[in-house]
Order: sequence, then C-alpha cells, then structure tokens
Amino acid sequence: MPRHLLLLVHTVPLDGAFTLNDLAGGGGRMDEVARVLSTALTLSNDLRRDATVTLLFHPKGDGPGRSIVVDGSRVRYLNPDERSTAALLKNALVRSVLADGPVESSPGLTVAPADPREALEAFVRRAGAVWLTESGSPLRAYDGPIGLSAVLSDPTEPTAAERELLEGSGIPRLSVGPRALRSSQVVDLLWNELDLREPPDH
Ligand SMILES: C[S@@+](CC[C@H](N)C(=O)[O-])C[C@H]1O[C@@H](n2cnc3c(N)ncnc32)[C@H](O)[C@@H]1O
Repeated sequence: MPRHLLLLVHTVPLDGAFTLNDLAGGGGRMDEVARVLSTALTLSNDLRRDATVTLLFHPKGDGPGRSIVVDGSRVRYLNPDERSTAALLKNALVRSVLADGPVESSPGLTVAPADPREALEAFVRRAGAVWLTESGSPLRAYDGPIGLSAVLSDPTEPTAAERELLEGSGIPRLSVGPRALRSSQVVDLLWNELDLREPPDH
C-alpha cells in the first residue's frame, strides 16, 4: 500500500543559501531533513517505490513557504548519504526562488511555493492521516489503514499554529515508543512496523 510522509521543516533557509559543509548550522538542520528523506525512501540496495515524502518548509517571515514532494516511484539520483541528499534539496530550493509554480528540479522531485497552513490542512484530510508524536498512543496497537499518511516534525517542535491545526483535525496521534527520538529514527520505526504488517512479496 502506498505510504506518504509529511515532514514539517522550520529553520532551513528557503532560498537554499547555505553551504553543504554546514548543514546543521547555516543549513538550519538540513542534515536531519536530508536524513529523514533518505531514510524514508532508501533501502539497502533499492528504493522504497511505494513511498512519497513531502517536505513542508516554513517561511521565516510573511512570504510563501515551499513544498518539496519526492516520489519514490520516480526519484533518481537519491543516495543514502545525507550530503548528496541535501545537495538535491538545496538545488530544488535555489531553483524555486525565481519560480512562481511547481518545478521538477530533478526526476521525481518537485518544488513549489506553498502556504504551509493550507498544505498541512490538505494533508490531514487524507485517508489514513496520523500525527506522529511522542505523546501519542502506541503505534503497535493501531489498527487503522496500513497505507497511511503520517505527519512529523523536524528537530523543532511544531509551531503553535501547526499544533492547533493538528489537534483540531482529530487525526490519531501515534507514538513509535516511549522516548523522544530524532525524526529520522521515527521514520525507521514506522516503516519497519508497516513492513512487518505488510511483508514485501520477495
Ligand atoms: C526531535 S523530535 C522533537 C523534539 C522532542 N520533542 C524533544 O523534546 O526532544 C522530532 C519529531 O519526531 C517525532 N517524534 C519524536 N519521538 C517520537 C516518538 N517516540 N513517537 C512518535 N513520534 C516521535 C515528533 O513528530 C517530533 O516532533
């Protein structure tokens, strides 16, 4: 079943103006954003072609945010290392600066201006939407749809507005375990649970 992940991204410069040598500092924790993407879409020697990742970038001021949608069935040039993944994302953000609509900056990777609130609202309306949070109920006991659409946050907690929207949506809140984990660790555990429930054919 198709899986969809939405990561709320809060501190990455939207114009891509950061160096690949400082992903955690000047890159606004792009290191972890890139890890989430590669964790979500790569396997040992393959890609997860049934998974799609949306990165929803929050603007610093009043301007538009950005969304980057990465389609596991079409993506190319995605490798497991965070530096080359960050380079793909940086390229997309730089390309988005002069674009007023969606741009496929590399195969399977589309960047577009986005209203983060509208995009999050649309995502939580998807069938099987869930919110991953350490205060949620145990994923292991969740018996909802296996092809799910999961929202999680980057190293910064969801903003007050995002939290209000998520709480107001009424979607299930799920926890993958009792500890506060890094976002990429949460993705590993979530995907593993879904893999166990729906083992691959081979
Ligand atoms: C690095 S955590 C946020 C910081 C964390 N709240 C803390 O106090 O250290 C990033 C995100 O991963 C998700 N997350 C972390 N631990 C989780 C868990 N045990 N179950 C589900 N989601 C989790 C949440 O979406 C969280 O906002």
